[in-house]
Amino acid sequence: MNTTQIVLASRPTGMPTQENFRSETITLPDLQPAEVMVQGLYYSVDPYMRGRMNEGKSYVPPFKIDCPLEGGVIGKVITSRSDQFKKGDIVIGNLPWQEACVVADNKIKPLHATVSPISFYLSVLGMTGLTAYLGLMQIGVPKAGETVVVSGAGGAVGIVVGQIAKLKECHVIGISGSEEKANLLKAQFGFDEVINYKTTSKMSEAVRAACPKGVDIYFDNVGGELSDAVMSCINKHARIPLCGQISLYNTTQIPVGPRVQPLLLTRSSLMQGFIVSDYETLFPEASTQLTKWLAEGKLKFTDTIVHGFPQLPAALLGLFTGENTGKMVVRA
Ligand SMILES: NC(=O)c1ccc[n+]([C@@H]2O[C@H](COP(=O)([O-])OP(=O)(O)OC[C@H]3O[C@@H](n4cnc5c(N)ncnc54)[C@H](OP(=O)(O)O)[C@@H]3O)[C@@H](O)[C@H]2O)c1
Repeated sequence: MNTTQIVLASRPTGMPTQENFRSETITLPDLQPAEVMVQGLYYSVDPYMRGRMNEGKSYVPPFKIDCPLEGGVIGKVITSRSDQFKKGDIVIGNLPWQEACVVADNKIKPLHATVSPISFYLSVLGMTGLTAYLGLMQIGVPKAGETVVVSGAGGAVGIVVGQIAKLKECHVIGISGSEEKANLLKAQFGFDEVINYKTTSKMSEAVRAACPKGVDIYFDNVGGELSDAVMSCINKHARIPLCGQISLYNTTQIPVGPRVQPLLLTRSSLMQGFIVSDYETLFPEASTQLTKWLAEGKLKFTDTIVHGFPQLPAALLGLFTGENTGKMVVRA
């Protein structure tokens, strides 16, 4: 059977473009025992994929030139030679950017969705929801009455961080890149205030005004100058879960910023980087809590669904221009 795949055509310098990707038709191999053929339904695009387009190992190996990119996919089994899966089963796994693919049955898991829409299993009930929950609860450790600032607030991780902080009775300030997102975060997701970093010239003044009692937790999704501004407002014993640095993913030279060590030292504060998989043993308890909050209506979420498998590169690039609210997902 033939299928379409999207491969990494070349490694980007700076911001990637469509030229870094190539779409091609391939013939899938015949199924071997313990293999299944999966048709992709929903594809996750995530900022960390940008790092995998570079050469050199990070915490995940780089994508290979002329090979398909890969990421979180929800799919349907269309043929099976596995005793674990049958035709029609809905599955989830880290799969190649192919409309249909042949995979070993140990690369996928069954997905028995109890929550709708099913795309939430790639977002609030998937990797980004776990990241928000575990980064905030394990490193941030929010306490009632504290002030929490989250950057990238309108994105997949940020929307969840802000709401959990509200559930923990904190005062929550988001930082986001559009008025539309700012209004949505306040009206639908309960944020107390949102600073639009694109229209604010003096970020540290804006953060200070929004956080009269100072910042106890800064959940950093973006890094760069925006984070420097928040850091200048941290309180004694502040905690800074270092989740992402998206503002630097396309830079060819990391800019030199203020040195934070004196600040961390004199304010007895903790800044800790983490990768969600560090907390793998806590995934079941985190998933149970997130599912419960969703079912109770205490946690809300939204996806940005882009339609059509060929749109995968555009959707990935859109993360760097803020085109998503909530999780960016491509529906085949
Ligand atoms: N540590 C981990 O295990 C882990 C796991 C998942 C994600 N992450 C990281 O967490 C962060 C958020 O990930 P996500 O999946 O939730 O992505 P996301 O927030 O849904 O999407 C990215 C958002 O980042 C904002 N952004 C893009 N360029 C920016 C810039 N130069 N300055 C400020 N904001 C910018 C955009 O929103 P605006 O409209 O606000 O600009 C965009 O919508 C990323 O840095 C990601 O790498 C880390």
